[in-house]
Amino acid sequence: MELLNRPRRLRGSQILRDMVRETRVSKNGLIYPVFVKEGQKIREEIAAMPGQYRYSLDTLAYELERIQKSGVRGVLFFGIPEHKDACGSGAWAEDGIVQKALELAKREFPDLYLITDVCLCEYTSHGHCGILHDHTVDNDSTLEVLAKTSLSHVQAGADMVAPSDMMDGRILAIRNTLDGAGYTNTPIMSYAVKYSSAFYGPFRDAAGSAPAFGDRKSYQMDYHNKREAIKEAELDLAEGADILMVKPGLAYLDIVKEISERFPVPCAVYSVSGEYSMIKAAAMAGYIDEAAVVGESAVSMFRAGADILISYYAKEIAGYIEEGRIG
Ligand code: PBG
Repeated sequence: MELLNRPRRLRGSQILRDMVRETRVSKNGLIYPVFVKEGQKIREEIAAMPGQYRYSLDTLAYELERIQKSGVRGVLFFGIPEHKDACGSGAWAEDGIVQKALELAKREFPDLYLITDVCLCEYTSHGHCGILHDHTVDNDSTLEVLAKTSLSHVQAGADMVAPSDMMDGRILAIRNTLDGAGYTNTPIMSYAVKYSSAFYGPFRDAAGSAPAFGDRKSYQMDYHNKREAIKEAELDLAEGADILMVKPGLAYLDIVKEISERFPVPCAVYSVSGEYSMIKAAAMAGYIDEAAVVGESAVSMFRAGADILISYYAKEIAGYIEEGRIG
């Protein structure tokens, strides 16, 4: 055989394979979601997400310590309040659960980068992501509340806010409010391209935030659409978003590619609860090798163009990078 091109030449040894890798993965791009819950002495496992927990303030430091030790430097806080109401007032309460968690984390873990999910669904009695008028989420009155919530997070110590509600115009509303209060340097990571997805199922169990009626299709995107993703990203960028996020991850890698190539800002991808639970369940059943599948999935998101990966497996992924398994 006179074969000039033999791609297998570059696959001959681990050292060579490592040398010619096209996708480099770093712990610096990892963010871990943390659920903080009002109450005491809570470290309860989330039924639909084995290995993931809700923490109260008095047990939170234990988890933050573990995150820090793993080499993950970014955390994304979600709050689970004791009381909910129609307008989600717990979201911006000065002594709200996320606000208190931020104060603690800022004080005791100054090396962690603190990001907050800004949304109302965990705080509203009806479980929708905004203020209801006539059984639908009213866009414009919700903006003010989201802006107020963002400001209260930043005042409590958030380094960055990440609105996940999918209202129109919320990036502008939040940017204006933060700027008006002097927080011109606090970045906004927008859940710019967030699809209405069944992969959020386990999260709604984790955060107790399933809508009491209907669904989120009037504000989250239809997964048949791709041009609409570009439009959403364009709008958020024009409104001042610093980072654009695509969510979910694995089933949306085409969108990650599109957004990361098209827009001159960092692209984040959120590998959501359902992705975690599917891998975990298959691993627990002995059907797959968990570490191998997690590593492969994580790399696929960076290969598609993501700069940042938000994952419930972030600590494990950091470990795989440390071991040289991936990266
Ligand atoms: C809040 C929010 C959700 C997720 C992140 N922020 C739930 C939803 O939109 O229903 C999902 C995260 C996950 O599934 O891991 N709106």
